Amino acid sequence: MAMTQEIDYGTPASKAKKEVTLTIDGVAVKVPEGTSIMRAAMEMGTQIPKLCATDMLESFGSCRLCLVEIQGRNGTPASCTTPVADGMVVHTQTDRLKRLRKGVMELYISEHPLDCLTCSANGDCELQDMSGAVGLREVRYGYDGERHPNPGIDTSNPYFTYEPSKCIVCSRCVRACEEVQGTFALTIAGRGFGSVVSPSQEQPFLDSECVSCGACVQACPTATLNEKSVIEIGTPEHSLVTTCAYCGVGCAFKAEMRGEELVRMVPWKDGKANRGHSCVKGRFAFGYATHKDRILKPMIRAKITDPWREVSWEEAIGYAASEFKRIQAKYGPASVGGITSSRCTNEETFLVQKLVRAAFGNNNVDTCARVCHSPTGYGLKTTYGTSAGTQDFDSVEFSDVIMIIGANPTDGHPVFASRMKKRLRQGAKLIILDPRRIDLVRTPHIEADYHLPLRPGTNVAVVTSLAHVIVTEGLLNEQFVRERCDWDEFQDWAEFVADKRHSPEEVEKLSGVPADAIRGAARLYATGGNGAIYYGLGVTEHSQGSTTVMAIANLAMATGNIGREGVGVNPLRGQNNVQGSCDMGSFPHEVSGYRHVSDDATRAMFEALWGRPVDAEPGLRIPNMIDAAVDGSFKGLYIQGEDILQSDPDTKHMAAGLSSMECVVVQDLFLIETANYAHVFLPGSTFLEKNGTFTNAERRIQMVRKVMAPRNGYEDWQITEMLSNALGYPMQYNHSSEIMDEIATLTPTFAGVSFKKLDELGSVQWPCNAAAPEGTPIMHINGFVRGKGKFVITEYVATDEKTGPRFPLLLTTGRILSQYNVGAQTRRTANVVWHEEDVLEIHPHDAENRGVRDGDWVKLASRSGETTLKAKITERVAPSVVYTTFHHPTTQVNVVTTDFSDWATNCPEYKVTAVQVMPSNGPSEWQEEYEELTRQTRRIAEPLVAAE
Ligand code: SF4
Ligand code: SF4
Ligand code: SF4
Ligand code: FES
Repeated sequence: MAMTQEIDYGTPASKAKKEVTLTIDGVAVKVPEGTSIMRAAMEMGTQIPKLCATDMLESFGSCRLCLVEIQGRNGTPASCTTPVADGMVVHTQTDRLKRLRKGVMELYISEHPLDCLTCSANGDCELQDMSGAVGLREVRYGYDGERHPNPGIDTSNPYFTYEPSKCIVCSRCVRACEEVQGTFALTIAGRGFGSVVSPSQEQPFLDSECVSCGACVQACPTATLNEKSVIEIGTPEHSLVTTCAYCGVGCAFKAEMRGEELVRMVPWKDGKANRGHSCVKGRFAFGYATHKDRILKPMIRAKITDPWREVSWEEAIGYAASEFKRIQAKYGPASVGGITSSRCTNEETFLVQKLVRAAFGNNNVDTCARVCHSPTGYGLKTTYGTSAGTQDFDSVEFSDVIMIIGANPTDGHPVFASRMKKRLRQGAKLIILDPRRIDLVRTPHIEADYHLPLRPGTNVAVVTSLAHVIVTEGLLNEQFVRERCDWDEFQDWAEFVADKRHSPEEVEKLSGVPADAIRGAARLYATGGNGAIYYGLGVTEHSQGSTTVMAIANLAMATGNIGREGVGVNPLRGQNNVQGSCDMGSFPHEVSGYRHVSDDATRAMFEALWGRPVDAEPGLRIPNMIDAAVDGSFKGLYIQGEDILQSDPDTKHMAAGLSSMECVVVQDLFLIETANYAHVFLPGSTFLEKNGTFTNAERRIQMVRKVMAPRNGYEDWQITEMLSNALGYPMQYNHSSEIMDEIATLTPTFAGVSFKKLDELGSVQWPCNAAAPEGTPIMHINGFVRGKGKFVITEYVATDEKTGPRFPLLLTTGRILSQYNVGAQTRRTANVVWHEEDVLEIHPHDAENRGVRDGDWVKLASRSGETTLKAKITERVAPSVVYTTFHHPTTQVNVVTTDFSDWATNCPEYKVTAVQVMPSNGPSEWQEEYEELTRQTRRIAEPLVAAE
């Protein structure tokens, strides 16, 4: 394996359609209008020396190294800032240019420390490279001149260092922070020779506004900004391109290795989801893969109160299989089930549902999408015919109005948020529907045109009210609706939304959003050009989650904002492979490709290939499995890569269900919270240790590549295969690519997908088949997948979760940038410096009424349970609303959330819980009990010493 090389063209590609022809060093070259001379030269293989230019950033023209001569023009212009012109004749290699470039390099080197041999970037430094490229052999000014300012090394950031003495003040870092990341955390402070890069108000990086995305480190041509891992381990020797295993953006990275050790993750410029950018999680938070907490040997125990006993793989798999068989014989075939993982690959997910359907012989399979985006599946399939977002991420570059509903992209989907921010800085308008003042409401150079701070639980009312304004003010795209949608259904819908009860004035009373803001936002969305809607779990995790998804779909159809670039309805998916786990048939009513199990022809296809009957009746969803466990009819569960105890609602009920089962098999990296209730623990592998694919929020299927051997011995799909074989249903795959081949055979939307194609194209967006061999970036272009677009009546029904004297506040939950879901991975990285514990955001009025000060311990209680955590007083939340995250098991916030759920899909209503908050002195009873249980259930028996 060699280092995967990327070409730096020096300046970004021009998007112009028109082409111009010029001559560079005697060779004719044709490039799009607006291309820089530097890029045009690089396109034909001529690298003009450069320092301040890189193709991730707009040209800047400060270093003067890239000079060229242009026939007929005076002087030596910078090739990075000079655009090409038709007929231009350029020389890049004349004696004059060589002399000038050498002079520039002499000046840089004369004030640069000359410790190349011991520098961490030795061999990976553009300053070194350029000295070589210009043939610098001596520095006339000597090497002992005044050095660049050296205020000391800033090591405050856990992942990278800043060493100002090595800085050449090229501003690449400053521009990367502005242009790529959009955080504006860096400036150049001081003047002339005294210029230095400064985070925020000359603060250490850790205390500044920096969000540790790594874009500046990536852009720095010297060792001034450098990864600590490179300093510690050394420069990488080989690399492979793979896909981030954290969020649904699906960033592509080069995993750069030295021997068997991962040195760094470098964002891959050809990654179509991230275009060379990253966030702190994917870029830096990979240390969990080698964390000492990882369990690498299988373990079993008869009772959860017994200590774990390390056993061979053979024994663990044999024990699990015999237990499942015993349970099915005793309690019936439907008494066991499985849960697939949105963190595992498509191939691994497919295999778990296959095991459940073919080896267990039932449809009791579900996935964590149950608790996040199942309403998206239902809502978009009903209205448009496909359970997925409509656009690719590139589409946002063509949006004129961006509406964000119940999502916090800068924390949840940071790399896409940066692209969105770029478009907003270019002038696109922004509408935000969210109970909190998320960062995008006001952030450097961006201010939302409308922020609708709706009361949690009133999404349907507010979105329907937007439709009311559009219909009653004649802002519809009638031509689109007539051509593309069912006209009769539209008329019924139009009559429904036009009713006075949906007017902004009426909806203001229940949502708290000023009527003017609803009217303004509706007008802007309908008339502002290309309107794109992005939404998140603030839409789906409600008792009317599916209804809101359909209300959003209605809005896009009514305004014709579907079926082209810049528009669309886009669910921002939480986990890396949540789209994929749904696509792969993880739901109890659907096989891969969202086909219902009751469909005879579909089942026949699976049965023919699998050689086993597939049940025509849908199986149990996760909440049904837990209810059935409590009732005593569900006794065995195989869970691959999900921590349902921490992530699912109503923790006490979940604990009761899990502890009622006779065989819980957990396959994971760590002894996660759910493992407290497990009888068999099968060590899982990380994304670095396996081959497979993930599918991101834009339906993009990307390769996950094995960069190191699985430390536990097996990729996760191999473990499922072993379990299936032990259950008596043979599986025999030699490589995960064979599983993808089976998926392609059985799934029309994946028919054209193979590892070979992904290697060739980099990635494809499904549907990918004979009709679209290279995939489908934008859906519903010439018509909806279901035929005519379906308008659905979206009557607002208030949730049964009501505030009252006992529980007067509404709790809503979410996540933050540095942590990921239940935190099993990110809590085992240095990311904890940014978020050591979950805190409760509370408005100053509500805090004052309760005598709560910032940082105080508070008890958070609902009708389901109570927990304690520290208070953070902030106006980010509206009065009567409190907010927290669920990253830490010590808080167990889901003890508080309720069993209410979406009417169509059972997606839990995490976003609305009536609570009370009061001062507290310490942990609640539940937390103490749980701590004791954890102490008990995590014991691992010492291995028996072999007899002498
Ligand atoms: S790491 Fe990212 S946010 Fe921080 S200074 Fe660098 S570019 Fe800006
Ligand atoms: S820190 Fe690096 S990128 Fe920033 S100005 Fe200095 S040399 Fe250039
Ligand atoms: S966590 Fe998401 S945004 Fe961050 S690097 Fe990974 S895929 Fe990209
Ligand atoms: S690379 Fe062109 S001026 Fe620096």
